[in-house]
Amino acid sequence: MDRDAAPCIGVFDSGVGGLTVLAALHRRMPRARLLYAADSAFAPYGERDAAYVQERSRVLTRFLLAQGAQLIVVACNTATALAIAELRAEWPEVRFVGIEPAVKPALAARAEADGPVGVLATSATLASGRFRKLLEQHGTGAAVVLQACPGLVEAIERDGPQAPRTLELLRGYCRPLREAGCTRVVLGCTHYPLLAEAIRDAVGDAVRLLDPADAVAAQAERLALDLPATQAPAALRAWSNGEPALLLRVAAACALPIEGVLELPRGLPQSIGPRDLQQVV
Ligand code: DGL
Repeated sequence: MDRDAAPCIGVFDSGVGGLTVLAALHRRMPRARLLYAADSAFAPYGERDAAYVQERSRVLTRFLLAQGAQLIVVACNTATALAIAELRAEWPEVRFVGIEPAVKPALAARAEADGPVGVLATSATLASGRFRKLLEQHGTGAAVVLQACPGLVEAIERDGPQAPRTLELLRGYCRPLREAGCTRVVLGCTHYPLLAEAIRDAVGDAVRLLDPADAVAAQAERLALDLPATQAPAALRAWSNGEPALLLRVAAACALPIEGVLELPRGLPQSIGPRDLQQVV
């Protein structure tokens, strides 16, 4: 990329999980203007239906475009599975990059002697048509152990990634993977890399964790190459409608130099309330 080019990229997630993707973007494009929106007041998405996730994704996209974003990174597996097609249809002139569980590379790298591949993801991601298709294309049923993690994103957003309640829930979800002898675990939710160490402890030290954040950042970099450079200097700006202290803590753990958190308005036009729609599971 031209040294002076500074594309403006909008990134969103249901909460602080997408900071793991933001960190990969920042590592690849330290000069880019990166805008991050954390929809923590409306998390978790993974236990909601498609209409809810699509509406929140539209609200956040509209917000980021209004801030000057030229490209949108959907840093949420659930929103990618349930909403990216609708976003592309509504904004055909905007480039979107999504994230999906790294099932393909996990299975492609699998040797005969390896154990099954474990997939940790939200209930909505695992139940989505997009994920089913991914499995049909690359999976062989028997070699994959799917594990939904209801309550885990909520625990991270409420108590933090290292809180005892979060870790206790996580250990319960990792148990079937350890018992099945999984040697690779796909982190199918952007919140889960925040728990990488605890997942390794729970499944076994030798397990390989697959996080596609860097591949997503590489794709965003390719798409950003021919965007016009913006005049403003490179900067990282974050908005949240949740607890700013949590975002700052997670950002620091991801080595992201975010100094302050702006308030993401809850009452954005055409938004729906967190409890307006029934849960999926
Ligand atoms: N980080 C989101 C994902 O990648 C979490 C979804 C949720 O809010 O449940 O799926």
